[in-house]
Amino acid sequence: ASMRAFLVRPECILCLSSALSVMAQLADNFSLRINQVHLTPSHLKHRTEGLKVKGSNFTLDGFPFLIVAGTIHYFRVPREYWRDRLLKLKAGGFNTVTTHVPWNLHEPMKGQFYFAKNLDLKVFIFTASEVGLWVILCPGPYVGGDLDLGGLPSWLLRDPRMKLRTTYKGFTKAVNLYFDQLIPRIASLQYHKGGPIIAVQIENEYGSYYKDKKYMKYIKKALVERKIEVLLMTADDGQEVTKGHLKNVLATLHMKNIYKETYRKLFSFQGLSPVLMTVYTASSFDTWGLIRRTLDLHMLLKDVREMFTLRFSLNFYMFHGGTNFGFMGGAMSSKNYVSVVTSYDYGALLTEDGDYTPEYLTFQEYFSSVLVVPTHLQPERKPKAVYNTVIPSHYLSLWDILPYLEEPIQSVKPICMEELPVNQGSGQSTGYTLYATSITTGGILTSRGNVQDRAQVFLDEKYVGVLDHSTDHLTLPFKNSYRNYWTLSILVENQGRIAYGQNINKERKGLTGNIYLNNSPLRGFKIFSLEMKANFIQRGLPNLWKPLPNQVSGPAFFLGFLRVDHTPRDTFIKLKGWKKGVIFINGQNLGRYWEIGPQETFYLPGPWLHPGKNEIIVFEEMKAGPDIQFTNISHLGM
Ligand SMILES: *[C@@H]1O[C@H](CO)[C@@H](O)[C@H](O)[C@H]1NC(C)=O
Ligand SMILES: *[C@@H]1O[C@H](CO)[C@@H](O)[C@H](O)[C@H]1NC(C)=O
Ligand SMILES: *[C@@H]1O[C@H](CO)[C@@H](O)[C@H](O)[C@H]1NC(C)=O
Repeated sequence: ASMRAFLVRPECILCLSSALSVMAQLADNFSLRINQVHLTPSHLKHRTEGLKVKGSNFTLDGFPFLIVAGTIHYFRVPREYWRDRLLKLKAGGFNTVTTHVPWNLHEPMKGQFYFAKNLDLKVFIFTASEVGLWVILCPGPYVGGDLDLGGLPSWLLRDPRMKLRTTYKGFTKAVNLYFDQLIPRIASLQYHKGGPIIAVQIENEYGSYYKDKKYMKYIKKALVERKIEVLLMTADDGQEVTKGHLKNVLATLHMKNIYKETYRKLFSFQGLSPVLMTVYTASSFDTWGLIRRTLDLHMLLKDVREMFTLRFSLNFYMFHGGTNFGFMGGAMSSKNYVSVVTSYDYGALLTEDGDYTPEYLTFQEYFSSVLVVPTHLQPERKPKAVYNTVIPSHYLSLWDILPYLEEPIQSVKPICMEELPVNQGSGQSTGYTLYATSITTGGILTSRGNVQDRAQVFLDEKYVGVLDHSTDHLTLPFKNSYRNYWTLSILVENQGRIAYGQNINKERKGLTGNIYLNNSPLRGFKIFSLEMKANFIQRGLPNLWKPLPNQVSGPAFFLGFLRVDHTPRDTFIKLKGWKKGVIFINGQNLGRYWEIGPQETFYLPGPWLHPGKNEIIVFEEMKAGPDIQFTNISHLGM
């Protein structure tokens, strides 16, 4: 979902009164009563027909059915908590969970598929069914979701002619191979096979991209050929419904850009079909360096009441946002490039760590007055722990470990991350890349837009400055030295590929072209790929840890141990005094931190700790703080 461009909502954001007048013209005895039959996957043993469109209603098994859904991304929530979050959805009065499938996480390297552990989509769907929820699945291949490249694998970009989200051969070939793995896994979980999946969304808001008229038909066919038989839907914002929709496929709405005309358009091509507000966004994500967004509960409740009155079905995006663990978060670029913070709290009805918000309780109360709400299922709040402060004991300078890492790539010119000959031909997707070369003079270093996204520049391992989206030149001091050359090192961080928009094909990270010194392009690079994968942190770091003196400058790894005496509990990490980097707990990448905020604490799920000694490694780019603190209260910023 793309971000709403405003913080204060205008009165008529959903233009529901226009919807009412259009609907009234089409059917003058339109019933405004909710008559929700209590159907759940576990109660429904003898299935006749799944979700269908019958006049202005959805029906399920022949009964009128209102979809009251919320989005939870399994990959943004620790697997151990899937049941807890789904129970909270159910207990809140919802009957359906919507989830997206991130291709880039399931196929991080071309041809290598992962559907285990936190990516075990089947178990997530089973659990939803056990809890009594129906499932709407959005298998993409593009899903948006504020993910790096909208959930598309960056190795697709190794083809310089790549046209993402089109019927370009290079793209459809990859989609077909991926769908061959994904779709059979979920096909058996469809309604008519006894599973909870009642609908599948084709792609995601394609009307706003629309580079290929044949593309949506191709995706539909790719799903149907692989035995997807449940109701198919498209989702688009108000302005793009006509463009994004397909014949004989239900068009649903993303609440952005809804005008009076939207409903007329929608009804003009699909009659008085039921309206599903697929993306009803309560709030939005936060981005580094900007203030936090807030939501207006009063407006939300008013919207939802009115939507129910109109018998609209709806989906809260997000019901529970979770966390952009690792480097999964994307970025956006309208005027400026901004990247999504680690928390994906989203101002959703459950907090990032799965706690109830006042908004959750308000909606639960409201839903209880109009729907059957099984509040007895409601899980209890889980207290958070405040662990003892950890003082890092050892460190490892990035410069010291370079000789022990895999041989660097030698190249005359810079090579972008995606093109690096690593990962068996899939290139580097996320993390950092270090470009080192020799220079014989100081002067002006210019990037001409070729640093994606942020580079720290070092001269003989001494920090000189930063090149990023807003700074494209730096002065390198002339040095008096007995030597006649110096080592220039450029440590580039990929802060997330844009998740949305027309320019996703152009996304490349690292050094995407020449860097100039006094207008001459630099040559002769040694390139180190520093993806910071779990196996690198757990086994790839050479054991050269040194006791920590008073002050160490980054880039360096800092090691400390957290002792947990009892059953581990959730907590939040606070890195006061630290500047910018990445946190790893027992090898798991918790995500980026950055002193510019707004996010100040970082969610550490209890299940990722174990009783006894837990290893914390912090990769700090600039300057380490004195210690690592823990708190039971999350601070996501003002
Ligand atoms: C109202 O709708 C029902 C069925 O949809 C129809 O049979 C009936 O004639 C309608 N009544 C009026 C007054 O239009
Ligand atoms: C739709 O459902 C409502 C209430 O559940 C019912 O009154 C109405 O007759 C249904 N309309 C159709 C066309 O089935
Ligand atoms: C946080 O922990 C403190 C004690 O360490 C306790 O007094 C407080 O109630 C806790 N707050 C929450 C919200 O759990």
